[in-house]
Amino acid sequence: MTAPGEPAPARTAAPRDARPAGSRVLFTGEQIRAAVERLAHEIRAAYGGEELTLVIVLHGGLVFAADLMRRLDMPLRVGVVLASSYRGTATRPGDLDIHVPPSLDLAGRHVLLLDDILDTGRTLARLTDEIRARGSRSVRIVTLLDKPGRRAVPLQADFTGFTIPDVFVVGYGLDWNERCRNLPEIVALGGPEA
Ligand code: IMP
Ligand code: MG
Repeated sequence: MTAPGEPAPARTAAPRDARPAGSRVLFTGEQIRAAVERLAHEIRAAYGGEELTLVIVLHGGLVFAADLMRRLDMPLRVGVVLASSYRGTATRPGDLDIHVPPSLDLAGRHVLLLDDILDTGRTLARLTDEIRARGSRSVRIVTLLDKPGRRAVPLQADFTGFTIPDVFVVGYGLDWNERCRNLPEIVALGGPEA
């Protein structure tokens, strides 16, 4: 709190992680916006005005979902599930933790499961099974990114923003040890050229 007559404290720098040293931009904010617009168009066309239940996989799907849902000009319900497979600073998946809230009403619903990236496929395969077991009418998958070269279970997204090689990426919701989710672009931390 500033006392009366005292100058306001200087604003600190933007509270955003700097882009990690040595990283390179794979997709700019502008390219992501265009992909999100195209995906919204595809999704609207696929559901033909039927009500959709968008189920967001937290935390990675948060930023993508916020942008995509505002372009889905159609009847829409929104729910969230929790999933985590990367532990601490590891860049390879560990055990999978998932939580589908019992209160999430999925019976008879057209569900669109949304995540940041389809990697080995284990997370979305498990979640798809859970959602089907709750009596959904249909389950489809949308991810912003797809790394088909890493697939461990046979699974394909119905809607995909970008296909990428086996590089570890952060930004636009994707994290490394819970950092960098707030970068407005997607950057690669290493590996082959996209
Ligand atoms: P999957 O179960 O192996 O398909 O893993 C999916 C989850 O792993 C995603 O929801 C992400 O949270 C995480 N993940 C996979 N690849 C990356 C990456 O390159 N950067 C950050 N997170 C990733
Ligand atoms: Mg995730």
